[in-house]
Amino acid sequence: MPKVRVEKICSEPELYIIRVDDDRIGYFEATWDIPEGITYNAYIMKLDGAVVLFDVSKKEYTDLFMEGLRKVVDPKEITHIVVHHTEPDHTGTLPKLLEENGYRAQLIGTNFAKRFLEGFYGEKVVENFYTVKDGEEMKIGGRTFRFIAVPWLHWPDTMITYVVEDKFIFGCDAGGGYGIPETIDDSDEEVVEKYLPHVTKYIVTVIGHYHKYIVQNINKLKSLGIVESARMILPGHGLVWRKDPLRIFEHYERVGAGTPTKDKVLVIYDSMYGFVEKRMEVIIDELKKHSKKPVVYRFTDKEAPAVSDILGEVPDSEALVIGASTYEADIHPRVRYTLFEILDKANYEKPVLVVGAFGWGGVAGKKIETLISRSKFDLVDTVESRGMMSEEDEEKLREGVRKLIQWIS
Ligand code: FEO
Repeated sequence: MPKVRVEKICSEPELYIIRVDDDRIGYFEATWDIPEGITYNAYIMKLDGAVVLFDVSKKEYTDLFMEGLRKVVDPKEITHIVVHHTEPDHTGTLPKLLEENGYRAQLIGTNFAKRFLEGFYGEKVVENFYTVKDGEEMKIGGRTFRFIAVPWLHWPDTMITYVVEDKFIFGCDAGGGYGIPETIDDSDEEVVEKYLPHVTKYIVTVIGHYHKYIVQNINKLKSLGIVESARMILPGHGLVWRKDPLRIFEHYERVGAGTPTKDKVLVIYDSMYGFVEKRMEVIIDELKKHSKKPVVYRFTDKEAPAVSDILGEVPDSEALVIGASTYEADIHPRVRYTLFEILDKANYEKPVLVVGAFGWGGVAGKKIETLISRSKFDLVDTVESRGMMSEEDEEKLREGVRKLIQWIS
């Protein structure tokens, strides 16, 4: 059942997290399977003569959020609300909050944010909106807040806040991940290890389409000298990073750049009646002979893995093998959808081997080749043949794997 967690995370300045743990969600953005759930994090900072709220929560959890907020502050006392990003998982509660606040608080965000908020919630919500420029600083309650635009992390409206005196970075989507970690922060290594794969999956599915901006924006923050010296990174989802703040941005950089884990090869295929499967057994055997570690996802009449999980495996793979049946003169529908999402969300310069099987006409292999040729991936070879695999087919498959391995090295 969804719940709200409220914890003090710093005494000077007085800082609280209001974290809504959403374990009821099935599909983030109505698309991505996340049985691991997600959290929506907002933060309250109490300063001399000012109370600053950073982001809010999803509309569905308005009552829960307000209940948590009231534990640390009377909503009427909030003087400023920083809107880092307007996607409704971080802003859905705003109308109700502003109503309780009596519209006293000044909203702070980018010009895009103002336009988007008006579009989502109407004019009244942005009546007291201050538009900041990239790099602009504001003095609030004795602290210096610097607002830095990080467009496409995850929308064009997005910015982060750097609190100069405390070296805090409020990142919203940047630095976030799926999952509902047992702890609030990164102090427990076991929690962090379990959480990081959810971060990768989050980055690819949510920000993946814009993944070149991940590296670009982190480089921008580094050039401003605020990443290495950050004392705390406070994202809008998942863990707060204070034991090792740099770690989460380094993880983001690796995912953005598609840095491979040695020997990991992602193998994805469908098999309706076992013809593709037989071929993939040969592929997997040959990969293992060369000390590669295949990570296998297969669509059969008994299993259908979540595409969101497959996407999360792409960035750190050295190479991909895609196996598909020809289905109604096209790629098998599940592999086709998976491939479309990979090419959109996880489009990296990595080698790909294509394997196909067909009944009377081979189309899937050619169609995959065409799609690959329009992407950043490199096509190493296509091995496609009819029906039952012959000895000659087997040798071609093993040869395809050897070419793939040569490509990697
Ligand atoms: Fe967590 Fe792009 O919203």
